[in-house]
Amino acid sequence: MSDDHGAPRPHVPVLLREVLAALMPDGHAPERVIDGTAGAGGHSRALLDAGVGGLLAFDVDPTAIRLAGERLRPDLDSGRAHLVHDSYVHMADHLDALGWGDGVDAVLLDVGASSMHFDQPERGFSFLREGPLDMRFDPTSGRPPASDIVNHWSHAELADLLREYGEEPEAGRYARAILEARPLDTTTALAAVIKAASRPPRGRPITIHPATRTFQALRIAVNDELGTIERALPVALECLRAGGRLAVISFHSLEDRIVKHTFKDWAEDIKSPPGMVLPEKDARVRLVTKKPVEASPDEVTINPRARSAKLRVVEKL
Ligand SMILES: C[S@@+](CC[C@H](N)C(=O)[O-])C[C@H]1O[C@@H](n2cnc3c(N)ncnc32)[C@H](O)[C@@H]1O
Repeated sequence: MSDDHGAPRPHVPVLLREVLAALMPDGHAPERVIDGTAGAGGHSRALLDAGVGGLLAFDVDPTAIRLAGERLRPDLDSGRAHLVHDSYVHMADHLDALGWGDGVDAVLLDVGASSMHFDQPERGFSFLREGPLDMRFDPTSGRPPASDIVNHWSHAELADLLREYGEEPEAGRYARAILEARPLDTTTALAAVIKAASRPPRGRPITIHPATRTFQALRIAVNDELGTIERALPVALECLRAGGRLAVISFHSLEDRIVKHTFKDWAEDIKSPPGMVLPEKDARVRLVTKKPVEASPDEVTINPRARSAKLRVVEKL
């Protein structure tokens, strides 16, 4: 998963062609772009290479900031690109400093974890390689790590978490197993507890490691991933100028549901029927993608991580 020196392997940007097409509808590169999730800088680099005028990129992960910094270096030095260690929720706070107070033409959010996280066992994202139960995108944030949840939450709280954020059918059973085994300090110890508590799904082949959903649930809670997306979407819309586009790539159904419903709500245009006075609502966006765009079979072959990616795009009216 990593190179011979243990360094994270470069993150392959997903749906790259589709993102560029979505953000450059008439083939022209936009003047001002926000990449809310710089990661290893793959999408940012491609946007700069496609000719965008200026790029403002964010990431909460200090490793991502270093990697993206290397990839974007010439443009950071020339002042064409700007890289900020902050959450994309705060994107609006950084516009005035660039003279972009009247808005931007495109916002990209490629949310969640990156392969870089899973390639660094010391970050605690991988159940296959031993590391501390951390899972924070920003270990400098002061937020509690995953070990806090695993070792201190009650059975009911843990079960709810696994059910809600992991969509884990065995939530109660796994929560009980965690309680009986704790304190748990490492990713592999937690994965072993879940594996020992697991039962083969009735009538279905086992396709994923039994700890997959537990780790997903913990990661979502540790980083408040769903709350962050919910808060950030309206901010991103506010940051756009009319005609600007917002593109969001999500990797699981809980994230995609938030994006889908928010975009649908924004696109609704409700007028009172003649003679009736009902609450009215003007559409704020046009749906560019009626259905989510998914990776082609060729892309999935090259980058299996793209398999669950869904891209949704709106244009501000
Ligand atoms: C899927 S990766 C992005 C990969 C990137 N598009 C590329 O081409 O390399 C998601 C990134 O979002 C970052 N991230 C997660 N939550 C964030 C937040 N609230 N604000 C900013 N970045 C965040 C993660 O640290 C991770 O680096």
